[in-house]
Amino acid sequence: MKDIINILDMTTREIDALIDMAEDIKAYPERYSETCRGRTLATLFFEPSTRTRLSFEAAMYSLGGNCLGFSQENTSSVAKGESIADTARIVSIYSDIIVMRHYAEGAPYAAGLYATVPVINAGDGGHNHPTQTLTDLCTIKKEFGRLDRLTIGICGDLKYGRTTHSLISAMLRYDNVRLVLISPPSLSLPDYIKREPPAGRNVSFVETASLDEYMGELDVLYMTRIQKERFDQSERSGAPGKYILTPEKLKGAKKEMCILHPLPRVDEISVAVDSDPRARYFEEAEHGKYIRMALILSLLSDTQTKKTPDCECPGGKKCVNKKCISYVESTLPQRVYPAPDKTLRCCYCDADVR
Ligand code: NCD
Repeated sequence: MKDIINILDMTTREIDALIDMAEDIKAYPERYSETCRGRTLATLFFEPSTRTRLSFEAAMYSLGGNCLGFSQENTSSVAKGESIADTARIVSIYSDIIVMRHYAEGAPYAAGLYATVPVINAGDGGHNHPTQTLTDLCTIKKEFGRLDRLTIGICGDLKYGRTTHSLISAMLRYDNVRLVLISPPSLSLPDYIKREPPAGRNVSFVETASLDEYMGELDVLYMTRIQKERFDQSERSGAPGKYILTPEKLKGAKKEMCILHPLPRVDEISVAVDSDPRARYFEEAEHGKYIRMALILSLLSDTQTKKTPDCECPGGKKCVNKKCISYVESTLPQRVYPAPDKTLRCCYCDADVR
């Protein structure tokens, strides 16, 4: 039994198996309709959501299980000052699996330390969103029959876009992947994501501020919205620049390119693109339900008891990230891991620890 906090908590083999299972569930839903009878999924959502929460709930009901939870912080005892640790302990009593979305980076990791049931990260601040990545990978695999040998353009807010962080982390593990990172310089990808790809993978990055420059080379174009709600005070006053995908812009793109977006879209994809045969973002949302069914079922089928990962912190060191749950809730133990560059990073949010 394990938590899914980061997409790297799953091996590529486990991801492949989940994608296969999702396809089987879609083809034969009746075979799975009683597989979670008597089990309960808790959705603890401290931030707005349409697709992620409802697809998790739809997934659990379609497996024959039950759901409980809340969709706003102010309807739980957290509004009275209850900690993530106590919330996780209590919800573990009432449910078999927890899905948590939180505005603080690392909050689902913190919940996983205290919950006795598996915790799934449904988005933690501007950090990670592993189950959106499963949805993205499922869609890419369906389109191309593979996850390697692809040129993937990822456009928009790469600084705060948690779906882009998890997608890039996942793609770094496949062979011959070229990532074209398209963002205004002020919203470029944080360094901790650009870690060394595993040896022999032949993954390359290029960074550009132009949506047009590499358009003709892309197999996948992943559009995202600017995450204004995560901007700090100084960022709010500036205009970071904006990308809008229109039929005109798509003229130079490959015929078989596939356009993805985790949604919600604001105006980064014009509605005129919806009827383009390359638009796949609504199908992507549909895959989200089946891949989450596969994930719930596989986590609940694992009979091993949950182990808390080992990790310690040299005394006196603290995470420097004010958006990290270990900063917000100072009673949480500081936990660190050594990064490839030998610096110490926070286990909750991957920021530096000093
Ligand atoms: C995304 C999220 O919440 O990070 N939405 C989603 O889960 N499909 C993307 C976003 O909010 O921009």
